[in-house]
Amino acid sequence: MEGQGGRRRRLVLVPYPFQGHITPMLQLGTILHSKGFSITIALSQFDFPDTSNHPDFVFLPLSNDSLYRFNDPDDIDRLEELPCIIFDSLMYSAEAVALHLKLPSIIFRTGCATFALSFYVCPKIQKEGYTPFRASKSLELVPEFHPLRFKDLPVFKLKNVDEFLQHVTTITNLRTSGMIWNSIDCLEQSSLVQLCPKLQVPIFLIGPMHKLAPAPSSSLLEEDRSCISWLNKQTEKSVLYVSFGSMATMEEKEVAEMAWGLANSKQPFLWVLRPGSVRMSESVDLLLDDFKESVGERGCIVKWAPQKEVLAHSSVGGFWSHCGWNSTLESVSEGVPMICRPFSGDQKIISRYVSHVWRVGIELENVIERGEIERAIKLLMVEKEGEEIRQRAADAKLELQLSVQKGGSSYNSLNELVEFIVSV
Ligand code: UDX
Repeated sequence: MEGQGGRRRRLVLVPYPFQGHITPMLQLGTILHSKGFSITIALSQFDFPDTSNHPDFVFLPLSNDSLYRFNDPDDIDRLEELPCIIFDSLMYSAEAVALHLKLPSIIFRTGCATFALSFYVCPKIQKEGYTPFRASKSLELVPEFHPLRFKDLPVFKLKNVDEFLQHVTTITNLRTSGMIWNSIDCLEQSSLVQLCPKLQVPIFLIGPMHKLAPAPSSSLLEEDRSCISWLNKQTEKSVLYVSFGSMATMEEKEVAEMAWGLANSKQPFLWVLRPGSVRMSESVDLLLDDFKESVGERGCIVKWAPQKEVLAHSSVGGFWSHCGWNSTLESVSEGVPMICRPFSGDQKIISRYVSHVWRVGIELENVIERGEIERAIKLLMVEKEGEEIRQRAADAKLELQLSVQKGGSSYNSLNELVEFIVSV
């Protein structure tokens, strides 16, 4: 994509400095580089992934005092040519930089479209008098937002609903030329029908992005590849992969219930126990020593895994997940059915979609308890009752494959995006 003077057009990509946001932004960079653009990643120095994995990108350390803001136009002025800025919607301070320098800008939404739709639904239900939310309402369906219940909304448990809605208003009022989404038409059709008229800018759904162009690892933690050798020794679709992403934290009691639920299920498992993911964890090591002895070779525990490779491995037959959007897309793309244990943010909405819209998984509804866990694992992985879920997951994989192939919705949308960037 040539700009002035016959050079490639430069794009400055501004990720939000967390794993679940850096990964899709670097994937977007890889895809757009393959389409002929030059890519600069603007990020606080503290959160750089291993830059040697991305020799085609220029990394621009931001000079801000805050990790979560990008508000110094000089950072961009240092570049030789005028770029187009693509920023994560949570780095909304970039809007002012783009306006100040009169540069075109595009928002990148790393989450799902249905979560974005909730940004319009939440203020409406507040106006209609549903807040503060009463516990007795938690299981009622939200008007015009089925099958979501009040308890699935990101505001439901918040103490300061007004603060959240203020944040939502800032994001929904951003003035940019367009919007990119790591999602797929076929997964979020009904939400998109409601959302698109509200956005008033062209939108481009180009997910699942990791299937559009193979991106190198962007992990902030070191991946333990020993789990791949362990997976190689397991039988087809026998392993339950367990991981709750990069941010969720649990009480020790929940870890104990998980451990004994896994042990009692008799199913092989690969469990990512991220450092810092267990609150007040003095005795968790003792607990895990007993547990490891009891499960022996049937279990493999690591601190961080090469997740995309794990989910694509033929031995993996299920994923017990917190339903972060990246994890969910990675699982659905590989046809791996899910057990959903959402924590916060968009995860409850995604969990509801996995279990009640796409029906490729089951939700752990109640308090996390070993008997319930054991039943869920058996249903998902082996029992006849789970067969339809497993089949739908396999079908969804094929549908997503079609979307990134020539003529598919994400393939076409990417080509439209490229033309759009050249034109703005
Ligand atoms: C957060 C939110 O939780 C999520 O809901 C939101 O959509 C994005 O920001 P996170 O909690 O980290 O992200 O979850 P997720 O979106 O699933 O991203 C985690 C990423 O880390 C995935 O790409 C996954 O492949 C990767 N990962 C996770 C690993 O590479 N190894 C691991 O062991 C665990």
